[in-house]
Amino acid sequence: MELLQVKDITKVFPTPQGEDHVVLEDVNFSVNEGEFISLLGPSGCGKTTLLTMIGGFQEPTSGAIFLDGNEITGPSAEKGYVFQNYALFPWMTVEKNIAYGLQFKNMTQEEKNRRVDEMLQLANLKGHEEKLPIQLSGGMQQRVAVARALACKPRVLLLDEPLGAVDFQMRELMQNQLDMLVGKAGITVVMVTHDVAESVFLSDRVLVMGSSRGEILEDVTIRLPKPRDRDSEEYIGYVEHLTSLLRKAFGRTEA
Ligand SMILES: Nc1ncnc2c1ncn2[C@@H]1O[C@H](COP(=O)(O)OP(=O)(O)O)[C@@H](O)[C@H]1O
Ligand SMILES: [Mg+2]
Repeated sequence: MELLQVKDITKVFPTPQGEDHVVLEDVNFSVNEGEFISLLGPSGCGKTTLLTMIGGFQEPTSGAIFLDGNEITGPSAEKGYVFQNYALFPWMTVEKNIAYGLQFKNMTQEEKNRRVDEMLQLANLKGHEEKLPIQLSGGMQQRVAVARALACKPRVLLLDEPLGAVDFQMRELMQNQLDMLVGKAGITVVMVTHDVAESVFLSDRVLVMGSSRGEILEDVTIRLPKPRDRDSEEYIGYVEHLTSLLRKAFGRTEA
Protein backbone atom coordinates (compact mmCIF):
# COMPACT_ATOMS: atom_id res chain seq x y z
CA MET A 1 0.00 0.00 0.00
CA GLU A 2 1.26 3.47 -0.86
CA LEU A 3 1.83 5.53 2.27
CA LEU A 4 3.61 8.57 0.90
CA GLN A 5 3.14 10.22 -2.48
CA VAL A 6 5.36 13.00 -3.78
CA LYS A 7 3.51 14.53 -6.74
CA ASP A 8 4.99 16.98 -9.26
CA ILE A 9 7.05 18.78 -6.65
CA THR A 10 8.78 21.95 -7.79
CA LYS A 11 10.77 24.19 -5.45
CA VAL A 12 12.14 27.53 -6.55
CA PHE A 13 14.26 29.81 -4.37
CA PRO A 14 14.87 33.45 -5.33
CA THR A 15 18.55 34.33 -5.70
CA PRO A 16 19.95 37.57 -4.20
CA GLN A 17 20.07 38.85 -7.80
CA GLY A 18 16.31 38.41 -8.03
CA GLU A 19 16.46 35.40 -10.33
CA ASP A 20 14.78 32.04 -9.88
CA HIS A 21 16.86 29.12 -8.67
CA VAL A 22 14.91 25.98 -9.56
CA VAL A 23 16.14 23.36 -7.10
CA LEU A 24 13.50 20.70 -7.81
CA GLU A 25 11.26 20.40 -10.85
CA ASP A 26 8.36 17.98 -11.20
CA VAL A 27 9.74 15.39 -8.81
CA ASN A 28 7.53 12.31 -8.46
CA PHE A 29 7.79 9.14 -6.41
CA SER A 30 5.87 7.15 -3.87
CA VAL A 31 6.79 5.04 -0.88
CA ASN A 32 4.96 1.92 0.24
CA GLU A 33 4.06 1.25 3.84
CA GLY A 34 6.99 -0.39 5.64
CA GLU A 35 9.50 0.44 2.92
CA PHE A 36 12.93 1.96 3.59
CA ILE A 37 13.88 4.26 0.75
CA SER A 38 16.97 6.39 0.28
CA LEU A 39 17.33 9.58 -1.69
CA LEU A 40 20.91 9.34 -2.90
CA GLY A 41 22.55 12.23 -4.66
CA PRO A 42 25.43 14.67 -4.84
CA SER A 43 25.68 17.49 -2.35
CA GLY A 44 23.47 20.43 -3.27
CA CYS A 45 21.06 18.44 -5.47
CA GLY A 46 18.06 19.25 -3.27
CA LYS A 47 17.79 16.23 -0.94
CA THR A 48 17.35 18.18 2.29
CA THR A 49 14.93 20.58 0.60
CA LEU A 50 12.80 17.63 -0.49
CA LEU A 51 12.93 15.95 2.93
CA THR A 52 11.97 19.14 4.79
CA MET A 53 8.93 19.49 2.52
CA ILE A 54 7.92 15.91 3.36
CA GLY A 55 8.40 16.89 7.02
CA GLY A 56 6.08 19.84 6.46
CA PHE A 57 8.71 22.44 7.43
CA GLN A 58 8.73 24.11 4.00
CA GLU A 59 6.08 24.34 1.30
CA PRO A 60 6.63 23.32 -2.30
CA THR A 61 6.35 26.07 -4.92
CA SER A 62 3.99 23.76 -6.77
CA GLY A 63 2.86 20.17 -6.45
CA ALA A 64 1.80 18.35 -3.31
CA ILE A 65 2.90 15.61 -0.95
CA PHE A 66 0.40 13.18 0.53
CA LEU A 67 0.67 10.99 3.62
CA ASP A 68 -2.08 8.39 3.87
CA GLY A 69 -3.92 10.32 1.16
CA ASN A 70 -3.90 13.60 3.11
CA GLU A 71 -1.94 16.56 1.80
CA ILE A 72 0.97 17.55 4.04
CA THR A 73 0.53 21.17 5.10
CA GLY A 74 2.83 21.42 8.12
CA PRO A 75 4.83 19.47 10.69
CA SER A 76 2.92 16.87 12.71
CA ALA A 77 3.44 13.93 15.04
CA GLU A 78 2.84 11.62 12.07
CA LYS A 79 6.27 12.55 10.72
CA GLY A 80 9.34 11.83 12.84
CA TYR A 81 12.32 13.90 11.73
CA VAL A 82 16.00 13.35 12.50
CA PHE A 83 18.02 16.38 11.45
CA GLN A 84 21.44 16.22 9.88
CA ASN A 85 24.00 15.30 12.57
CA TYR A 86 21.09 14.23 14.82
CA ALA A 87 20.91 17.52 16.76
CA LEU A 88 19.89 16.67 20.34
CA PHE A 89 19.06 19.18 23.05
CA PRO A 90 22.47 19.32 24.79
CA TRP A 91 21.05 20.47 28.14
CA MET A 92 18.51 17.66 28.39
CA THR A 93 19.11 14.11 29.59
CA VAL A 94 18.55 11.13 27.30
CA GLU A 95 15.16 10.60 28.90
CA LYS A 96 14.09 14.23 28.49
CA ASN A 97 15.28 14.32 24.89
CA ILE A 98 13.20 11.23 24.08
CA ALA A 99 10.16 12.59 25.94
CA TYR A 100 10.36 15.97 24.22
CA GLY A 101 7.66 15.48 21.58
CA LEU A 102 5.28 13.81 24.02
CA GLN A 103 4.56 17.07 25.84
CA PHE A 104 2.39 18.08 22.88
CA LYS A 105 0.41 14.85 23.08
CA ASN A 106 -2.76 14.22 24.94
CA MET A 107 -1.38 11.46 27.17
CA THR A 108 -1.27 10.93 30.92
CA GLN A 109 2.11 11.18 32.66
CA GLU A 110 2.00 7.45 33.22
CA GLU A 111 1.46 6.78 29.52
CA LYS A 112 4.32 9.13 28.67
CA ASN A 113 6.65 7.35 31.10
CA ARG A 114 5.68 4.02 29.64
CA ARG A 115 6.33 5.29 26.10
CA VAL A 116 9.76 6.64 27.03
CA ASP A 117 10.61 3.33 28.63
CA GLU A 118 9.53 1.48 25.49
CA MET A 119 11.78 3.74 23.39
CA LEU A 120 14.73 3.25 25.77
CA GLN A 121 14.31 -0.52 25.37
CA LEU A 122 13.93 -0.30 21.59
CA ALA A 123 17.04 1.82 21.15
CA ASN A 124 19.06 -0.20 23.65
CA LEU A 125 19.56 2.80 25.94
CA LYS A 126 18.38 1.37 29.27
CA GLY A 127 20.70 2.51 32.06
CA HIS A 128 21.64 5.72 30.24
CA GLU A 129 18.44 7.67 30.98
CA GLU A 130 20.10 10.31 33.13
CA LYS A 131 23.10 11.02 30.89
CA LEU A 132 23.54 14.17 28.85
CA PRO A 133 24.25 13.87 25.10
CA ILE A 134 27.86 14.97 25.60
CA GLN A 135 28.45 11.89 27.79
CA LEU A 136 27.38 9.53 24.99
CA SER A 137 29.20 7.97 22.05
CA GLY A 138 28.17 9.04 18.54
CA GLY A 139 26.26 5.79 18.05
CA MET A 140 24.28 6.31 21.24
CA GLN A 141 23.51 9.93 20.34
CA GLN A 142 22.16 8.74 17.03
CA ARG A 143 19.95 6.16 18.76
CA VAL A 144 18.59 8.84 21.09
CA ALA A 145 17.75 11.01 18.07
CA VAL A 146 15.94 8.13 16.37
CA ALA A 147 14.18 7.15 19.62
CA ARG A 148 13.06 10.75 20.06
CA ALA A 149 11.67 10.78 16.53
CA LEU A 150 9.88 7.44 17.10
CA ALA A 151 8.44 8.33 20.51
CA CYS A 152 5.32 9.94 19.04
CA LYS A 153 4.71 6.80 16.91
CA PRO A 154 4.98 8.55 13.56
CA ARG A 155 3.75 6.96 10.32
CA VAL A 156 7.05 7.78 8.63
CA LEU A 157 10.59 8.40 9.84
CA LEU A 158 12.59 11.02 7.94
CA LEU A 159 16.38 10.84 8.30
CA ASP A 160 18.72 13.50 6.93
CA GLU A 161 22.24 12.08 6.55
CA PRO A 162 21.94 10.31 9.91
CA LEU A 163 25.50 9.02 9.76
CA GLY A 164 27.06 12.13 8.26
CA ALA A 165 29.66 13.14 10.79
CA VAL A 166 31.34 9.92 11.83
CA ASP A 167 34.43 8.04 10.78
CA PHE A 168 34.38 4.92 8.63
CA GLN A 169 34.44 2.20 11.31
CA MET A 170 31.91 3.95 13.48
CA ARG A 171 29.76 4.39 10.40
CA GLU A 172 29.43 0.67 9.74
CA LEU A 173 28.62 0.01 13.38
CA MET A 174 25.99 2.75 13.35
CA GLN A 175 24.54 1.42 10.11
CA ASN A 176 24.11 -1.96 11.81
CA GLN A 177 22.43 -0.35 14.81
CA LEU A 178 20.14 1.79 12.68
CA ASP A 179 19.19 -1.24 10.59
CA MET A 180 18.23 -3.20 13.72
CA LEU A 181 16.41 -0.30 15.33
CA VAL A 182 14.33 0.52 12.27
CA GLY A 183 13.65 -3.18 11.65
CA LYS A 184 12.37 -3.63 15.22
CA ALA A 185 10.21 -0.50 14.95
CA GLY A 186 8.78 -1.76 11.63
CA ILE A 187 8.43 1.76 10.31
CA THR A 188 8.45 3.40 6.87
CA VAL A 189 11.65 5.40 6.34
CA VAL A 190 12.85 8.05 3.92
CA MET A 191 16.58 8.67 4.34
CA VAL A 192 18.69 11.27 2.60
CA THR A 193 22.32 10.39 1.99
CA HIS A 194 25.25 10.98 -0.34
CA ASP A 195 26.87 7.70 0.76
CA VAL A 196 26.37 4.81 -1.66
CA ALA A 197 27.28 1.99 0.72
CA GLU A 198 24.95 3.35 3.37
CA SER A 199 22.04 3.41 0.94
CA VAL A 200 22.70 -0.16 -0.21
CA PHE A 201 23.10 -1.48 3.32
CA LEU A 202 19.87 0.01 4.64
CA SER A 203 17.35 0.48 1.84
CA ASP A 204 14.71 -1.50 0.03
CA ARG A 205 14.87 1.09 -2.76
CA VAL A 206 17.36 3.77 -3.70
CA LEU A 207 16.26 6.79 -5.74
CA VAL A 208 19.32 8.23 -7.41
CA MET A 209 19.09 11.98 -7.89
CA GLY A 210 21.00 13.87 -10.54
CA SER A 211 22.60 17.23 -9.94
CA SER A 212 20.00 19.11 -11.94
CA ARG A 213 16.51 19.99 -10.69
CA GLY A 214 16.08 16.89 -8.55
CA GLU A 215 15.83 14.62 -11.56
CA ILE A 216 15.50 10.98 -10.48
CA LEU A 217 17.99 9.14 -12.65
CA GLU A 218 17.04 5.67 -11.49
CA ASP A 219 14.85 3.90 -8.99
CA VAL A 220 16.89 0.89 -7.86
CA THR A 221 15.32 -1.93 -5.83
CA ILE A 222 17.88 -3.66 -3.61
CA ARG A 223 16.90 -7.32 -3.64
CA LEU A 224 19.03 -8.66 -0.82
CA PRO A 225 17.99 -10.21 2.50
CA LYS A 226 18.73 -8.34 5.72
CA PRO A 227 21.04 -7.97 7.54
CA ARG A 228 23.14 -7.47 4.46
CA ASP A 229 26.50 -9.02 3.79
CA ARG A 230 28.81 -6.20 2.75
CA ASP A 231 31.23 -8.65 1.15
CA SER A 232 28.76 -10.47 -1.08
CA GLU A 233 29.13 -10.18 -4.82
CA GLU A 234 25.56 -8.89 -5.25
CA TYR A 235 26.08 -6.21 -2.61
CA ILE A 236 29.27 -5.02 -4.28
CA GLY A 237 27.44 -5.09 -7.62
CA TYR A 238 24.80 -2.68 -6.31
CA VAL A 239 27.49 -0.39 -4.86
CA GLU A 240 29.30 -0.31 -8.20
CA HIS A 241 26.12 0.34 -10.16
CA LEU A 242 25.05 3.23 -7.92
CA THR A 243 28.55 4.68 -7.84
CA SER A 244 28.68 4.82 -11.62
CA LEU A 245 25.23 6.50 -11.73
CA LEU A 246 26.41 9.09 -9.21
CA ARG A 247 29.58 9.67 -11.16
CA LYS A 248 27.42 10.51 -14.15
CA ALA A 249 25.35 12.88 -12.00
CA PHE A 250 28.50 14.66 -10.85
CA GLY A 251 29.75 14.75 -14.42
CA ARG A 252 26.75 16.77 -15.47
CA THR A 253 27.50 19.48 -12.89
CA GLU A 254 30.88 20.00 -14.44
CA ALA A 255 29.49 20.19 -17.99
N1 LIG B 1 16.28 28.48 2.00
C1 LIG B 1 17.01 28.50 0.88
N2 LIG B 1 17.14 29.63 0.15
C2 LIG B 1 17.85 29.64 -0.99
N3 LIG B 1 18.47 28.56 -1.50
C3 LIG B 1 18.39 27.41 -0.83
C4 LIG B 1 17.65 27.31 0.40
N4 LIG B 1 17.74 26.03 0.83
C5 LIG B 1 18.48 25.37 -0.07
N5 LIG B 1 18.88 26.19 -1.07
C6 LIG B 1 19.67 25.80 -2.25
O1 LIG B 1 19.06 24.68 -2.81
C7 LIG B 1 20.03 23.75 -3.30
C8 LIG B 1 19.79 22.40 -2.68
O2 LIG B 1 20.09 22.44 -1.30
P1 LIG B 1 19.89 21.20 -0.33
O3 LIG B 1 18.49 20.74 -0.44
O4 LIG B 1 20.38 21.58 1.01
O5 LIG B 1 20.84 20.11 -1.01
P2 LIG B 1 21.41 18.71 -0.45
O6 LIG B 1 20.72 18.39 0.83
O7 LIG B 1 21.14 17.73 -1.55
O8 LIG B 1 22.89 18.90 -0.27
C9 LIG B 1 21.39 24.37 -2.99
O9 LIG B 1 21.84 25.03 -4.14
C10 LIG B 1 21.07 25.34 -1.88
O10 LIG B 1 21.98 26.41 -1.90
MG1 LIG C 1 21.47 18.11 2.77
